[in-house]
Amino acid sequence: MDRIHIRGGTPLRGTIHIGGAKNAALPLMAASLLTGGTLALSNLPHLADISTMAKLLSELGVDISMDGYASGGGHVGRVFRLTAGNLTQTTAPYDLVRKMRASVLVLGPLLARAGHARVSLPGGCAIGTRPVDLHLKALEQLGAEIELTEGYIEARAEKGLVGARIVFPMVTVGGTENLLMAACLAKGETVLSNAAREPEVADLAHCLVAMGAKIDGIGTDTLTIQGVDTLHGADYSVVPDRIETGTYAIAAAITGGELTLKGARADLSEAVFKVLTSAGVEITDTDQGLRIARTNGPLRGADMMTEPYPGFPTDMQAQVMTLMAVADGASMITETIFENRFMHVPELCRMGADINVHGSSAIVRGVDGLSGAQVMATDLRASVSLVLAGLAARGETVVNRVYHLDRGYERLEDKLSACGADIRRMAE
Ligand code: UD1
Repeated sequence: MDRIHIRGGTPLRGTIHIGGAKNAALPLMAASLLTGGTLALSNLPHLADISTMAKLLSELGVDISMDGYASGGGHVGRVFRLTAGNLTQTTAPYDLVRKMRASVLVLGPLLARAGHARVSLPGGCAIGTRPVDLHLKALEQLGAEIELTEGYIEARAEKGLVGARIVFPMVTVGGTENLLMAACLAKGETVLSNAAREPEVADLAHCLVAMGAKIDGIGTDTLTIQGVDTLHGADYSVVPDRIETGTYAIAAAITGGELTLKGARADLSEAVFKVLTSAGVEITDTDQGLRIARTNGPLRGADMMTEPYPGFPTDMQAQVMTLMAVADGASMITETIFENRFMHVPELCRMGADINVHGSSAIVRGVDGLSGAQVMATDLRASVSLVLAGLAARGETVVNRVYHLDRGYERLEDKLSACGADIRRMAE
């Protein structure tokens, strides 16, 4: 298993290219199941989760070709051409769903197009139980018959899905995406209320419209879909990754450096940038991209609470906590989306952070500096928070189990070392 070695203390300077969003790319790839036409997706990030989704779709009969990988001077992202001419099967097996929960996003499109889907139940994961009950209840409201047998969701709608009014009892990103895709091919009108407003949901909706879907209310919490008989192929470019953007913004801030994030969009990260600005980080929109700097004075503690978009994203909680660990004063960080999403806390404390967890809140008392240590990555965002801590710490930090990072950060060590970080990956 690979490990990442970091010698901290160097202020980062330079330019980092922000790739396409993993969380947008995954549902967009699943949307290819809805049509026999070719969906050409550009600006796809090169990540383990994207390969897992490609593998799953190939097993279902989607033909995938790839091009557009630029090298030397810049990375422009890959293009995948996905053609689901004939679906050869409708089962998403345990081995792939276990690796990546987002595999469950094939459920809605398979059911809508083929009238049948058999998808392994995802089971528990490192950041909590994360059930899919809301996806299933909503699909039942569209007329699907659903049974749970032998660890699998068995869903049928042989006469097709029928539009309905669905009110999600809580905001679910994946649930909204599954239902949005299914409703495009259902008969009549579907209204999704209390729908997730995440930019990745809007990206999916815009792509579906380019494929011939009829969707109103994109970007709001009420999506109205008029079902159509068929969808067609389209060309679509994936939205930039707001979590990668926020993560590198913190890398600049925590090292007291200055980075330009090329391709990043400030409008997708307002809640995160509000916290960073109040902590003393300068963020400027320039022709070259977003310039992030912390050159004047110490960081200040700031409170925040995770919430559905446009609130503060849970996927940035661990990274911001790391920044607050070295800020002046105390910060209160409350996690409202997932249970058990403080697994980075004991690891940060091993590096000298002063953090106490009380239920779903953590009190972070800023310390003068962190010190390098051996730490263990537990999930994707927790792992990157340890890399950020290592960039700021005195001495050497070794992050173990880095396969989590490869699920969500493309060429992390290359991007950071090009800006002056002393970071390298070592194979065990
Ligand atoms: C997506 C993101 C993930 C992000 C999360 C919240 C992808 C691939 N992943 O995950 O990075 O952290 O949104 O922004 O886009 N819930 C239920 N029943 C359900 C569905 C969800 O109880 O049927 C609960 C979950 O356990 C969780 C909350 O609802 O507590 C939000 O989950 P959800 O928005 O569905 O997250 P994902 O789509 O899995």
